[in-house]
Amino acid sequence: MSDYHVPVMLEESLKGLNLSPGGTYVDATFGGGGHSRAILEKIKDGRLIVFDQDEDAKKEADMIQERSFTFCQANFKYLKKYLKLNGVSKVNGILADLGISSHQIDSAERGFSTRFDGPLDMRMDKKNPLLASRVLNEYPEEKLHKILGMYGEVKNARTLARAISQRRNVKKFGRIADLIELLKPVAPTGKEYKYYAQVFQALRIEVNQEMEALESFLLQCGEVIEKGGRLVVMSYHSLEDRMVKNYMNTGKVFGEVEKDFFGNPIKPFQPINRKPVEPVRKR
Ligand SMILES: C[S@@+](CC[C@H](N)C(=O)[O-])C[C@H]1O[C@@H](n2cnc3c(N)ncnc32)[C@H](O)[C@@H]1O
Repeated sequence: MSDYHVPVMLEESLKGLNLSPGGTYVDATFGGGGHSRAILEKIKDGRLIVFDQDEDAKKEADMIQERSFTFCQANFKYLKKYLKLNGVSKVNGILADLGISSHQIDSAERGFSTRFDGPLDMRMDKKNPLLASRVLNEYPEEKLHKILGMYGEVKNARTLARAISQRRNVKKFGRIADLIELLKPVAPTGKEYKYYAQVFQALRIEVNQEMEALESFLLQCGEVIEKGGRLVVMSYHSLEDRMVKNYMNTGKVFGEVEKDFFGNPIKPFQPINRKPVEPVRKR
């Protein structure tokens, strides 16, 4: 296996998909293809259509030669459009392993990691014109405050937004080191790394418009998955978590329930597990 990314919860996610050999499946987040390769092994006569907006993931996908495999270098918010382009209207299962890959975090020049210096970039799709540096240098202070609080759950978001706007008047943000230098005195003592991670998460979500993409994707999943099909989503922070749970439980991303004539909730999915499956921690 390549060292691009070690697939998380592989067994559990394959079990969740309930793969059948001739079925049609989607891996919405190909990354290094760990999950995709395992799916392909189990669906010899089937079809796998995968998405990733990162051109580095395409290079990994180019190594897969199977005829049953199709790579779409696209945002998964265009799920239906790309399925249609590939002559598919319904699928038996969809997997999404949200967020970023180890390859993206470990590449200093991508700007996702607090551990290295690099440009303040954070784009999964290198064609996206919005870089983290632009968010920091150009967004109004109020909008920064909102993003930091909402997407990073940063407690002193207002203070931090003010510090960012004061600093950029003196010198614009260009590199990760510029941001870390600003964060150091603002971060709670002893919890600096957690704080940096929260700020980076907020910027990454904004740069990649992750919440909007997830909402649009989830709603389309309900339309394209066959009756009896499966949706498996791996989420890594509370905002994603809430959206996915709401959608699975109510058919709506923000939780408002629609009812039919008899007062039963209208929802496209029936949860398979009462509680989300969590990874087993190794000692
Ligand atoms: C956690 S990794 C997936 C790893 C993969 N399951 C594996 O086994 O290697 C997430 C991947 O999804 C991609 N991604 C995240 N959000 C996306 C979106 N909205 N549209 C398309 N790709 C996305 C990222 O570029 C990244 O490569």
